[in-house]
Order: sequence, then C-alpha cells, then structure tokens
Amino acid sequence: MREMKKHKQFVKSLKIGVGLIALVFVTGFMLWDVNRSDLGANTAGSSSELVIGTDPGFKPFEYKEGSQTVGFDIDLAREIAMDQNKTLRVEEMAFDGLLLALQSGRIDLAVAGMTKTPDRAKNVDFSQAYYSAAQMIIVKKGSEIRSEADLVGKKIGVQLGTTGDILAHKIFKAEVVQLPQTASVMQELNSGRIDAAIMDNGPAMQYLANNPKLEMLPEKLTDEDYAIAIRKGNKKLLQQVNKSLSAMKKDGRYEKLVKKYFGDATK
Ligand code: ARG
Repeated sequence: MREMKKHKQFVKSLKIGVGLIALVFVTGFMLWDVNRSDLGANTAGSSSELVIGTDPGFKPFEYKEGSQTVGFDIDLAREIAMDQNKTLRVEEMAFDGLLLALQSGRIDLAVAGMTKTPDRAKNVDFSQAYYSAAQMIIVKKGSEIRSEADLVGKKIGVQLGTTGDILAHKIFKAEVVQLPQTASVMQELNSGRIDAAIMDNGPAMQYLANNPKLEMLPEKLTDEDYAIAIRKGNKKLLQQVNKSLSAMKKDGRYEKLVKKYFGDATK
C-alpha cells in the first residue's frame, strides 16, 4: 500500500518536472523568436537560407528555363547568399505582391529589376543601385505613334504595379490596361488590343527579338535605377547586401554577369 502511494507521488512529481522543463523551453523559444524579429534578422527562411521574391517573365533579369528560375538577378542574389554562407531560395510571385511579401516577412529580399523610387522607399529600404534602365514605348511597326506626345488618348498596356504603370497613368486621357505579366502585355500588343506598351528597355529588347512585328521607339521616357528591396529597418541585411554588391563590382563578378546576360555591352 505504502509502495503504491510512493509510486503515485513519484509519477506526479515527474509530470510536474516535465511540465516545468517544457515551459522553460517554450518561453525560451518565444523570447528568442521575439528578439530575432526585433533585431530585424531574417524571418523568411531558416538561418541557412536567403529567400528572395521575384516575378519571372522579365528576361534577362528573371525568367523560366524549364522549371528553373534563372537570370541576372538570380545569379546576383546567389552571390549575395554565398557571401553570407547561405543557400538561395527563390519564391515566385506577382510583381505587384513583392513589397507586401517583404513587409510580412515571407521573403528577405525582392530582387526583380525593381526601380528605386521615392514612393517605394517609404515602405522598404533599397540597396545601392545595380543597374540603369529606362521606360520605353513599344508599338507595332508602322504605328502612327512615334513619341510620348502621340500617346494622348491611347490604349496603353503595362505590367501592374510597375513604373511603366505609374507613367502611363500620367498620360493625358490614356486608357491604361494593367496586366499581371509582361508577356501578356506583349500578347495584347501583338493582337492589336492595345495601341502601345510601356516597359523597361531590357525585357522590351528581348521581346522584340522574338516579335519582328513590333518596334521600340528611340525616346527614353525615364532614367531609372534597379536596386534590391529589403524590409525597412533590417539594417544588418541591408549592409550585407551593399557590401556584397560593392565587392562584386570590384572583384569582377558583376562584370562577368553583365557579360553573361547582356553580351559585351557594359550596361
Ligand atoms: N523596373 C520596373 C519597376 O520597378 C519593372 C520591374 C518589373 N519586374 C519584373 N520582374 N517583372 O516597376
């Protein structure tokens, strides 16, 4: 009888003990986690992963090769990850959703041929610039549209949420057709459902190479700088990214990527 009681008591204290240990662990983990996000550390992946968000369909910066996402931006991001001894994970999403994914912690960086603009900089931080670009007008060959002035009152296709989209909205009486992908903008132009497209010079050139019926007008509508977007306040990662970019520009890795994706033309 006494033995039984002893045994019960032992089991009871064992349970309390295990409970206490578990409590210490859970609280410890919670504190550690809160601390981690306070410091602005990566919340997207494990500490061994750098998670970037991008929208492929923007050749040569990011595009699909089979099931793989490849391109200038992807290679650039891989170098940044390697500099931090991390592996790169690429999350695909609509261009339009990138900044939100950053802010919510789903991704660590947005690397998507993204133009550094003062408006975007209100919500995210930007790295140093890594590429100069411009907005261009693309039309069907033989179109009466020859310059920006001719766009007044026209139907203009753009990728949703891009600087091309913002620009098109400033054109007097224009009807702006916002599409989720740059490829669909080109399709609409080819089939004559829009009068012109406004998009970045790099990808526009790529589309033109495969669409002999289209042409790009020589006039540059803007001068823009691509940069990597980082969650606001994530100073450590911002510094690491800038350090990597500076190093790459110095040690030839950047130049190598430019050659790989743009031929010998520097920028
Ligand atoms: N440079 C333009 C912008 O920042 C377009 C970028 C589109 N990028 C893409 N991966 N689809 O708005």
